[in-house]
Amino acid sequence: MATVGPSHGGRYSRVAILFHWVIAALVVANLWIGLIGGSMPVHKAVGITVLVLTLGRIAWRLGHRPPPLPPLPPETAGWERMVARASHFAFYVLLLVVPLTGWAMSSGAKRYPLDWFGLFPIPYLPISDSAAHLGHELHEIVGFGMAGLVALHVAAALRHHFLLRDGVLARMLPGRRAVP
Ligand code: HEM
Ligand code: HEM
Repeated sequence: MATVGPSHGGRYSRVAILFHWVIAALVVANLWIGLIGGSMPVHKAVGITVLVLTLGRIAWRLGHRPPPLPPLPPETAGWERMVARASHFAFYVLLLVVPLTGWAMSSGAKRYPLDWFGLFPIPYLPISDSAAHLGHELHEIVGFGMAGLVALHVAAALRHHFLLRDGVLARMLPGRRAVP
């Protein structure tokens, strides 16, 4: 089996895959809790965890390029690559902005304690009431934006896997085999 330099035979590295799936699971859980109005202390602690992991993921990503995409047929290469790049970038922005706006909202009236699964306190952000208010408005908008982007992203992954059968999903799955 030929290993293609730093691209790991066309798949994401183990660290990238671990970051991807841990954060994806936490985001799906938090969208669910947020939308059904479940336990807010859990929602807040999971959201802050996503924020911290995302800072680590971005720092790591800046030093590690993803594996190059395999050559695509010329008629699909242009716009699909652009949409993929733009949506991945939008994810990184939302992975920061969604938890930050939630944190801002929860720093307003200070009526509820803010802690990490009851283990240690999380400080309130030092912001005004009107900024917290804005955080609330924005959290709703960017939260739904995140849900929409996840839907688009999953649809794209499934299209690659079942319709195009091009190995793009396998690039992000754990495993040792090289990806075509
Ligand atoms: C991955 C991170 C997060 C996601 C995907 C997420 C998503 C959502 C969604 C979809 C809602 C329901 C829409 C709404 O009513 O605004 C919501 C509500 C809420 N979120 Fe988050 N959130 C995240 C992080 C946080 C964080 C870090 C905090 C606070 C520290 C927070 C605090 C809240 C609160 C207090 C509500 C209830 C708002 C209300 O009932 O009006 N969220 N979240
Ligand atoms: C639900 C939360 C999710 C988030 C926030 C998320 C986020 C991301 C991000 C930011 C990237 C780009 C990685 C980079 O190049 O830096 C990515 C890639 C990828 N994601 Fe997700 N993802 C999620 C869920 C999923 C799910 C459920 C699937 C599969 C059904 C999936 C499949 C993939 C694949 C295959 C790639 C690699 C695309 C490529 O090779 O260019 N993701 N994801």
